[in-house]
Parts: sequence; C-alpha cells; structure tokens
Amino acid sequence: MAVRKRGRQLHTAVREAYDRTGEAWNEGPAAVYDRLADVLVARSPVPLGGRLVLDVGSGTGAASLAAAEAGARVVAVDLSPAMLRANRAPLVGRMVGDAAALPLADRSVDGLVAAFSFTHLADPAEAFAEAARVCRPGAPVLVAAYAADDDHPVKHAVDRAAAEAGWTPPAWYVDLREQAVPQLASEDGMAAAVAGSGLRGDVAQVTVDLHDLTAKEMIAWRMGMPQLAPYLAASDHRTHERVRLRAIDLLGPSPPPLRRSIVVFAGTA
Ligand SMILES: C[S@@+](CC[C@H](N)C(=O)[O-])C[C@H]1O[C@@H](n2cnc3c(N)ncnc32)[C@H](O)[C@@H]1O
Repeated sequence: MAVRKRGRQLHTAVREAYDRTGEAWNEGPAAVYDRLADVLVARSPVPLGGRLVLDVGSGTGAASLAAAEAGARVVAVDLSPAMLRANRAPLVGRMVGDAAALPLADRSVDGLVAAFSFTHLADPAEAFAEAARVCRPGAPVLVAAYAADDDHPVKHAVDRAAAEAGWTPPAWYVDLREQAVPQLASEDGMAAAVAGSGLRGDVAQVTVDLHDLTAKEMIAWRMGMPQLAPYLAASDHRTHERVRLRAIDLLGPSPPPLRRSIVVFAGTA
C-alpha cells in the first residue's frame, strides 16, 4: 500500500516536472540521450525493420528516432503531454499514458523500447509486466536504465552552481534518486525486475563513450534536465547565465571525458 501511494505521488510530480521541461530537453539532454538510444536499439536481438514498435517514456524521441532509422513504424507513449509534443521522430502515433498501465490491447505491438523511463517507477516490475502484455510473442524488448556508477563531475558542478543561485533539488527528484533509480542500477536489480514478466533475454552493464561532448554541451545536458529546467525557465536570463558560467568555472578547463554507464535489457516477449 505504501509503495502504491509513493508511486502515485512520484507519478504526478514526475509528470509535472517533465511538462515544464519539454523543448528544453532538445536544447541540452538530447545530445546525450540520442546517442544512448542508438546504443540501446543496436542491441536488439532481432531486426526492427518493418515492425510496429512502442517507445515507452519516449520523451522527445531519442529512441523513437533510433527505431525509425532502423526501419520501424513507431508509436510513442509518455506520461507528459509536453514531452510527447516535442517528439522529433516520424511517428505513426503518439499517446499520453503510463508505463505501468499502457493504453494498448494485449499483443498489439511487434516491439518495445524504453530508454530511461522505467527508472521513474516506484515498482519497475510493473512496467516490465506491461511490456510483456502488449508485445506479440517474439517481439524485441529493449530497456535502458542508469548504472549505479554513472557519474561525472559536470553533475556536481551544475548542481552546485544552481544551488548557489537559489535552486534546491525538488522532493520528487530526491525520492527518485534514493528509491526508484537504484532498483534498476545493477544487472541483478534489472534481472529481478524482469524476472516475473515472462520476457526472455540478457541484462548487461554497458559503457557509452561520449568523449567528444564539449564542456558546454555537458553543461547544457544538465541544465536541461527536469529537476533543474523548470527552475531555470522560471528564472530571469541573468540567473540562467550565472548558473552556466559558474558551472563552467567549477568544471575547470579540462574536464574528464564523458562516459555514461548504463544497464540494458535486450530480449524478446
Ligand atoms: C529521462 S526521460 C527519457 C526520454 C527518452 N526516452 C530519451 O531517452 O531521451 C524519461 C521520460 O519518461 C517519461 N516517464 C516518466 N515516468 C513515466 C511513466 N510512468 N510512464 C510513461 N512515461 C514516463 C517522462 O515523461 C520522460 O519523457
């Protein structure tokens, strides 16, 4: 019961934060997440070409784009209408919906991709069960989450610069980081969440090399995330610039290259 109540509260707060992020995602985080989605889609155990693929928690379409490029017809579903509106991919459909209660019939799609969306659920096993329910037998299912060791000094630089300008991490974000994200942050955790779903496949921790991203792009990534973007959008231009310049200063002239550490499930229904 407590998990369900926490889940509902998290659900509402997450939707509101992403609704106030929308296009800001495309100006920063997309440069990182588009590349992660390419890695995820490339791990499909069967070709995506010609399939009707559901992108769950599609956001602005990182995985939708990657799946469409692989020849899939993509339907996007997301909790946030603003993120859905900002989806850049050629879609055959888009709908507002919850990963834990998808607005689709049983066995209605030929594939499913979920990039960094199941990490928002109080009980991610519910999302894996839904993935199994809506997919036809043999359909590829691809899910990515953040690994526990995924870190880079830019995160701390931007958080500190924002805190100096008056930002405090929203409660939903603290809850997400402490309760929801850790559940899928290891191979064992992801395997446990998949276990009861009936999906079959492999879980692997993968490092994605993004060393070509500049300090400016890394800072734009962090400033466009939903824990911070709504605060910056409500601030004046001077505050925005103050955060950006202070983050550049804190990060220093030669930050380490960006490598993201992710956990991936690649399997079939
Ligand atoms: C970190 S963003 C990732 C977006 C996109 N998949 C990408 O890789 O760029 C997470 C997305 O999941 C959506 N989301 C969060 N919780 C969700 C839920 N319970 N059901 C559906 N979408 C959800 C958010 O609105 C957001 O668009």
